[in-house]
Amino acid sequence: MKEFKNYINSNKDRFLEELFDLLRIPSISANSNCNKDIRATANLIKKHFKNLGLDNCEICETKGHPIVYAEKIISKNLPTILIYGHYDVQPVDPVELWDKDPFEPYIKKTEIHPEGAIFARGACDDKGQMFMHLKALESIKENYNIPCNVKLMIEGEEEVGSDNLELFVKNNKEKLKNDIVLVSDTGMIDKTTPSITTGLRGLSYMEVEITGPNRDLHSGHYGGTVANPINILSSMIASLHDSENKITITNFYDDVVETTDLEKKESKKIPFDINEFRESIGINLEHGESGYSTIERQSIRPALDVNGIWGGYTEEGSKTVLPSKAYAKISMRLVPNQNWKKISSLFTKHIKKIAPKSVNVKVTEHHGGEPYVAPTDTIGFEAASKAYEEVFNKKPIATRDGGSIPIIALFEKELHSKTILMGFGLDSDAIHSPNEHYGVSNFLMGIETISKFYFHFTDLFKSKSN
Ligand code: BES
Ligand code: MN
Ligand code: MN
Repeated sequence: MKEFKNYINSNKDRFLEELFDLLRIPSISANSNCNKDIRATANLIKKHFKNLGLDNCEICETKGHPIVYAEKIISKNLPTILIYGHYDVQPVDPVELWDKDPFEPYIKKTEIHPEGAIFARGACDDKGQMFMHLKALESIKENYNIPCNVKLMIEGEEEVGSDNLELFVKNNKEKLKNDIVLVSDTGMIDKTTPSITTGLRGLSYMEVEITGPNRDLHSGHYGGTVANPINILSSMIASLHDSENKITITNFYDDVVETTDLEKKESKKIPFDINEFRESIGINLEHGESGYSTIERQSIRPALDVNGIWGGYTEEGSKTVLPSKAYAKISMRLVPNQNWKKISSLFTKHIKKIAPKSVNVKVTEHHGGEPYVAPTDTIGFEAASKAYEEVFNKKPIATRDGGSIPIIALFEKELHSKTILMGFGLDSDAIHSPNEHYGVSNFLMGIETISKFYFHFTDLFKSKSN
C-alpha cells in the first residue's frame, strides 16, 4: 500500500488548501453570533462528502447546531465503520495572545514541527483531525475501492457538550448501526511515538453562585460585619481538596475503580519525562493527589478544577466594594465507574452543606458525560496497531487520556459500539489555547494511517467471520 504515501504527498498542497478553507470559518459553537458560520461549515463539509461520491449526504437539523451525515454502503456482508468528529471549535479568547488572526490559517515551523505546523483555531481540535478522514477516503477511492461500508457523522456541538447529538443517536440507532466507531480527536505520545487512546475521563461541569447582601455595599462601612461572597466562595473552594490533594466531597471516590497491578505496569511503559513536563508548561513543580504519578493523576484518577471565578470589581484602578455576589465554574473529571449525574448531585449537596448560613447558594449543572475505557483485545485495536506500525515503524502504546468526549460512552450505551481513538495531536499543539496548531506531518501521516486502518479492519473482520 505504498500508493497512499505517494498519493498523499502529491496532493498535499491541495489537502492543506482545502483544510485552510475550513479553518477560515469561525465555527465557535459557544457563541451565538457564529450561527451563520456554523451553518457555512456544515455546508462545506456536506460539499466535501458529495465530492467524495458518498451517498445520502445530508444536514441533519437539531435543536442546536446541525449534524452532517453521509454514507457509502457497499455490501451488507462487509463491516461498517462509523466515523465521528466535530466541526465546531472553542472560543478564541484571549485573542490578544494569538500571534495572528485565529481564523487566518498559516504554516510556520516550530521546534517540534520542523516541517511546519498549521496555526489556526481548530487546526488540531478537531477540524484538522476530522478532515484527515475525508482525505483518507479520497486516497482510498483514488487508488483502490473502499473496502467496507462507511458512515460519517460530524457534529457541531462537541465543545458545548453534544446534548443534541445524544438525542440524534438515540433516535437513529438503525441508521448509525456499525461494527466500530473511529475517531481522531485525541493525542499521541510524541511525534515519533504513536499511541491509541483507550480511555477518556468523564466530566461534570457545575456553576456555583453565592449571594450575600442584596446589593453591593461600601466595603468600609460594612466590611467586617457582613459575609463577603467572594471570601466565602474562596474558602469553600479551598476546602474541596485536603492536605493530600484528595477531593473532600462526601462519597466522591465511592465508585472509583482502583487500577490493577497490570495496568500500573502498562502505564510505566509510557515514555514520560517529568522535567520536560515541567518545562513545557513553565511550572517549577507538579501538583496532585498523593500516592499517584503525574500520568496516573492525568488519566486514571479524578480531578476537580475551578475553570473560572468572578465577582466584585475587576476593572482598572480600585473601587471599595463588598460585592453582593460571587461565582465559580467548576469541572470534575471522572473515571470508571463514576457516574456524572451522581457526582453532580453529590457536588450540589456538598456545596450546600458547607455554605455558611450568612449567604445563599445556588448550584447549577451545565453538562457532563461518562468516562470511557476501551478493550485492547479487539480486531479494531489490532487493525489500528498494524496501520500505525506500518506508517510510524513503531507499535503504538495504549494510553488513557485525561480529556473527555462524552458521546463516546453514549455510543457504547446506545449503539453497543466500541470506539477506536486514533488521535494524532501533540500536547504541545495548544488546543483550546492561543496559537493552536497541528503538525503538517501529523496531518499527512494521520491520513495514511487511517487509510490503512480500513483495509486491516476489513481483513480481520472477514477472517474472524470465516
Ligand atoms: N478533543 C477534545 C478532547 C480531548 C483532547 C481528549 C485531548 C483527549 C485528549 C474535545 O474536543 C474536548 O475538548 N472535550 C471537552 C469536553 C466537552 C464536553 C466540552 C473537554 O475535555 O474539556
Ligand atoms: Mn475535540
Ligand atoms: Mn476540544
